[in-house]
Amino acid sequence: MIIVPASTSMGLAAKVAKEMGATLAEVEKKRFPDGEMYVRILTEARGLEVAVIGNTRSDEDIVELLLLLNASREAGASKVIAVLPYFGYSRQHMIYKPGEPVSSKVMTKALENFSDRIVCVEIHDEETVGFASHPFSSISVIRTSSEYFRDKGIDIILSPDDGGYERAKKMAEILSIPAYYIDKKRIDAKTVEMHLPKVDFSGKSVLIVDDIISTGGTIIKAVKLLKDNGATRISVSAVHGIFAKDSDRNIEPMVDLLAVSDTIHGSHSLISVAGDISRALAGDE
Ligand code: R5P
Repeated sequence: MIIVPASTSMGLAAKVAKEMGATLAEVEKKRFPDGEMYVRILTEARGLEVAVIGNTRSDEDIVELLLLLNASREAGASKVIAVLPYFGYSRQHMIYKPGEPVSSKVMTKALENFSDRIVCVEIHDEETVGFASHPFSSISVIRTSSEYFRDKGIDIILSPDDGGYERAKKMAEILSIPAYYIDKKRIDAKTVEMHLPKVDFSGKSVLIVDDIISTGGTIIKAVKLLKDNGATRISVSAVHGIFAKDSDRNIEPMVDLLAVSDTIHGSHSLISVAGDISRALAGDE
C-alpha cells in the first residue's frame, strides 16, 4: 500500500506508513502563478492500493485532498482510500434553518466521487456515514484515548453534555472508574446553562472528555464548574483539537493536563491514532 500524505497530516501519515510497513509517497505541492493549487504524486502508484491521508478542516485542505485523490486514480491506483483523521464540515449534518445546505453530505459526495472507500476518525455525527453509497467507516479511538489516561490517576470522567456521555461511559468502563455528564441547557442563541451532576467532586482528579474542542467555550465552562466544586486536579481531553482562535491558550493555564489526539496536528496532540488508522486500513476493524 502507498500512503499519500496531505499537508494537514504529514506526521500522522508517516506514522501510519511506518506502522503498516507501507510506502510513504513523495508529494510535490506548489501554486500556479494565478494562485491555484498544484499537486503531484512523485511515487509510482500504478496497480497499488493508495490511501490518501488528509483533513477537511479548511477549504484549502479540501481542495488538496480532492486533488490528491484524483491524482492517485489518474496514476493507476487499483483502489483509492480517502482517510480523514478529522472530517471537517461534519457539524452541519442537517438543515437547521431553511436555505442551508447539508454540508456533511456535500463533503461525503465529493469524496466518494474520487475514492472507493472513506475512513475517518470519530465523525461528529454518524448520520453522515449514511450519506455515502460506498464503504464509509468512522473509527472509534476510545480504547486508545482511555489507555493514554490509565496511569494518570483519574478518579472520575465527566462529559460536558449528555450527547458525549456514551463515549465518556465507555472510557470509564475501560479504566474502571465512574462517569457522569453535565446537564447542558440552551436558554437562547447566546446563553447556555450548565449544571454539574449531584456528585462530590471535592479532592477528586477529574477528566473532562469531549469529541471536539473548537472555541473551547464548553470546556472552559465545565472546568470553572469543577473548580467551584472543589476538584483538585482537572484534565481535559478530546479526539479533535480544533482550538479555534487559539483557544488552547485559554484552556491550558486552567487545567493540569490538556491532551487531544493527533487527528489535527498541534502542540497538545499527545495521543496518536496512527495504530487505529493502520488497523482499519489493514482491514482489522
Ligand atoms: C458538541 O456537540 C460537541 O460535542 C462539543 O462540545 C462542541 O462542539 C465544542 O465546541 P466549543 O469548543 O466551541 O464549545
